Amino acid sequence: MKKTQEYIESNKDKFLNELVDLLRIPSVSTDKAYAGDVLKAANFIREKLASAGADNTEVCETGGYPIVYGDKIIDPALPTILVYGHYDVQPADPLELWDSPPFEPVVKDGLVIARGAADDKGQMYMHIKAFESMMKTDTLPCNVKFMIEGEEEIGSDSLEPFMEANKEKLAADVVLVSDTAMISNEAPSITVGLRGLSYVEVEVTGPNRDLHSGIYGGGVANPINILSSMIASLQDENGRITIPGFYDDVEDLSDSDRHNLNQAPFSLEEYKSDLEINAEKGEAGYTTLERTSIRPTLDVNGIWGGYTAPGAKTVLPSKANAKISMRLVPHQSSDKITELFQKHFESIAPDYVKVKVTPHHGGEPAVTPTDSTAYKAAEMAMEEAFGKKPIPMRGGGSIPIVTYFERILGLKTILMGFGLDSNKIHSPNENYGLFNYYKGIETIPLFFKNFADLSKR
Ligand code: BES
Ligand code: MN
Ligand code: MN
Repeated sequence: MKKTQEYIESNKDKFLNELVDLLRIPSVSTDKAYAGDVLKAANFIREKLASAGADNTEVCETGGYPIVYGDKIIDPALPTILVYGHYDVQPADPLELWDSPPFEPVVKDGLVIARGAADDKGQMYMHIKAFESMMKTDTLPCNVKFMIEGEEEIGSDSLEPFMEANKEKLAADVVLVSDTAMISNEAPSITVGLRGLSYVEVEVTGPNRDLHSGIYGGGVANPINILSSMIASLQDENGRITIPGFYDDVEDLSDSDRHNLNQAPFSLEEYKSDLEINAEKGEAGYTTLERTSIRPTLDVNGIWGGYTAPGAKTVLPSKANAKISMRLVPHQSSDKITELFQKHFESIAPDYVKVKVTPHHGGEPAVTPTDSTAYKAAEMAMEEAFGKKPIPMRGGGSIPIVTYFERILGLKTILMGFGLDSNKIHSPNENYGLFNYYKGIETIPLFFKNFADLSKR
């Protein structure tokens, strides 16, 4: 282990420079204009895997963006860790809110600032560098396979058929993912649950064309006004979602689980001052920690219609649209919630408008065990690296493929993320701490070692 850590220590600059090169590639998966760059990022990863010492490296074609594969099987009798990550990123918009261009990484104040720095290029690349460090010092204690995809931010559509078709190739003992956050650098944590997602787009249509708001105003329904009140009705004064059946399958945590969850270090004052809000808001009867992890949500992610360009145009629009996300918790089903939403939304539409609900990608919630060998290995690795036992914690975000690992490959996942909520993922000025990048590279070989050792017994 000492040799591995020495190799990491003496290659810090090289590790950072390579990450910066990767961050320069604008691999935005949702926008076809960047298709060439997404492929460039895939090739970059394959090349780095190969030079780190992986065998069978391959940019695997799919119906969408490719999946990068590579492995090192030192002994088929030893356990195998399947590392998953993603090389695609969210769009950088709104560009004007960035202090430096999103794809021209800046290293400043202990942070690397760029789109994808924490989600997930920085976190995924730690695994390649940790692997290189074990390979170059002859300390790899078990087998490893890498599966790095390019469609995570758009729903991982190609990953499911890829796993179905490659069960043998991907056979392993556990999946290791770094794509989540910790409570803080002083309070390391391991994510043991993620929310699911149901995402819909709605369109409300009033008159068949845009109208003069003076000539027709007052005589017909305005679809923006109607959409606004329909959306407002989806939550009651207690912050409860009003869709019938929405809470039917929601897992209710025991009082002691809720108590434990609320022991995590969290300051509501800091939370509010960080976000510059006077007061928090959420479902009555639950704390902010609970509202953002074990409770489901409904939020408008975007809303548009009518005239929004500079100046004023007196127009009564024909259409209004919104994109709505619902975060789901254990036992809720994404398809069922989408269906309930659609039925309810159509049923509350007044006669004078037509509504259309279009489902987008979704995903199921996930809970990962804390009583497994792999969890123990992760817990020990983090304790060694941070000098503090990590706290198991439910996260509010979604990584839908965690449930595919279980269903298709029969594997449990370890969500050993090193990000922080302050990383601004999906937002302007996304960043990743150099402390976290190097700490992750140090912790991963410890996980490998512990997992190999504990599996022997
Ligand atoms: N890495 C995030 C998920 C995440 C971040 C989980 C922080 C926990 C803590 C992932 O890349 C992501 O953004 N997922 C999407 C869902 C996906 C289907 C687009 C999300 O959560 O919005
Ligand atoms: Mn991610
Ligand atoms: Mn993301």
